[in-house]
Parts: sequence; C-alpha cells; structure tokens
Amino acid sequence: MTVAAAEDPVKLAEFEARLERGETIEPKDWMPEKYRKQLVRMMSQHAHSEVVGMLPEGNWITRAPSLRRKMVLLAKVQDEGGHGLYIYCGTETLGVGREELIEQLLTGKAKYSSIFNYPTLTWADIGVIGWLVDGAAIVNQTMLAKTSYGPYARAMIRICKEENFHKRQGYEICTVMAKGTPAQRAMVQDAVNRWWWPSLMMFGPSDATSPNSAELMRWRVKRETNDALRQRFVNLTIPQAQAIGLSVPDPDLRYNAETENWEFGPIDWSEFQAVIAGNGPCNRERMAARRKAHADGAWVREAAEVHAEKQAARAREHAA
Ligand SMILES: [Fe+2]
Ligand SMILES: [Fe+2]
Repeated sequence: MTVAAAEDPVKLAEFEARLERGETIEPKDWMPEKYRKQLVRMMSQHAHSEVVGMLPEGNWITRAPSLRRKMVLLAKVQDEGGHGLYIYCGTETLGVGREELIEQLLTGKAKYSSIFNYPTLTWADIGVIGWLVDGAAIVNQTMLAKTSYGPYARAMIRICKEENFHKRQGYEICTVMAKGTPAQRAMVQDAVNRWWWPSLMMFGPSDATSPNSAELMRWRVKRETNDALRQRFVNLTIPQAQAIGLSVPDPDLRYNAETENWEFGPIDWSEFQAVIAGNGPCNRERMAARRKAHADGAWVREAAEVHAEKQAARAREHAA
C-alpha cells in the first residue's frame, strides 16, 4: 500500500505536469501526500541540523583566540539558529508545527546531520568546520534553492548568502594557521584529517543505496543526486586545500583529466551507519545538550503564551 497509489490520478497528473513546466509548488496548492511527507522529513532534518550544528562550535565561543574571532564565531553560530527558524517556519506551511518537530528531535524520532556528532578538539576544528562543513552545506543548499517547493527554495536563497560568509571565515582561519608556526600547521592538518571523510558523508548514501533519491528527483525536490553533489564538493575543495598547502587523507585521490573530476577512494559507510544509529562520538552529548536547552527555555515559552493570552483578552474587551 503506497500513499501515492491512493491519490487522485487526475490531480497527480496535473501536479506532475506543473513540475514538468518548472513551476514551483506553493503551500495552498494541491500536492500528493507523499510529496508533503518527504518535504516535512527533509526540511525538519535540515532545521534540526542547523540547531544541533550550533553545539560543536558554540563550545568554542569562550575560547576563541581573539576578540575578532569571537565576534565572527558568535555571529556565525547565531546565523545557524536563524536558519533553523526559517526552515521550521517553512515546514509550518506544510501543516506541521515546530513544537511537534522539536518533540521528534528530542525523543530521537527525527534525525539530524551525522556531521554534528563529531567533537571539536582544537581551534583549528572551527576553521575546518567553516571551510568543509559549511562548504558542503552550500553545495547541497545551492541545489535546494531550486527545489520545487517554493517556501523551502526561498529560505535556501537567503541561507546560502550567510553560508558563504561562514565558509569564508572558516577558510580564513585555516589559511592563517596553514601559514603559521609548525605547530599551527600540524594542528590544522590534523583537523582536516579528522573532518574530511565525515564531510563527504554529509551528502548521504550513494545513489544506488539511497532509498528516497529517485522519488525526490522525480518530484524535483532534489535536482541532483548525492553522488553528483559529493563530486562537485570534492572538485571545489581540493584546489582550495592545495592553495594553502594542506592535503586530504585519501591515498586514492587523483585527478582525472578526461572527466575533470578529482576521483576519491571508497567511503567507510559502516562509520556513517553507526553515527546515524546514534553511536557517533558525541550523539549522546548533543542530545543531552538540546534537551537541557529545551527544558531551560520552558519559562520563556510559558511567559510568551501567558502574554499572548493577555493580549487576546484585551483585544476582546476592546471589541466588546
Ligand atoms: Fe546554516
Ligand atoms: Fe553555516
């Protein structure tokens, strides 16, 4: 039994024809239930990733090596919180409230990007996260800016502008360290060695094993496959690494002049599966931090509700 099979075939054909013509789908338009569900799944995973992604970097705000670095990192982490909020608002247009989605995150029912379950051991990690993790996010989100669902596409356009700043601040940190003392060089190279493979995993499983890919492509939710996006990221990043004298930990890496691709070695998907299943280095720590933040914020939510009730009662009095 599939939901799509139960859809009105005339409406479904009209929906697919609209996508064929390159039209975007807006909140009040008819859409197959499966399309709505896939979008809620993707967008909520994305929003959760923005919010959980604040944790590994937030961890370094108090330890940033200068006031300038502290201000930049503070702004970046705050941006990520804002990205989460834009996208939660986007899912609200599909009929699912933020409260429900956050509940799914906190109970472990919903996933977030596997990358945020790795620890930030040194200051160089902050540079490498900006460069590689935000860099990978840009490749993915530039594709999503052309997704068929209007509110998601528009959120991505705004978010990508901020992600470019994130990437540049990260690459700047890496550049300074790579040109620094031997100890600084070693520190940034070590961070690249630890973050390289998890960054490649951010694009998700290989197309052959990705259960959702084909349908997401057909409905133009995704415009490119995981493998194509991953290859684009590698092609963009290797010259950037070379420019500052850093290497990536892949003995199989080689340039194919014919295809103009940087070919890379096999990804250890067992590591990815373990992290997704909750057994990455920091899964428990991240979820504990989110649950604590949610509990600590309960009084704010309650106060806002009481205030809204008061305002509504006043408005009723005036109207009477
Ligand atoms: Fe972001
Ligand atoms: Fe970012």
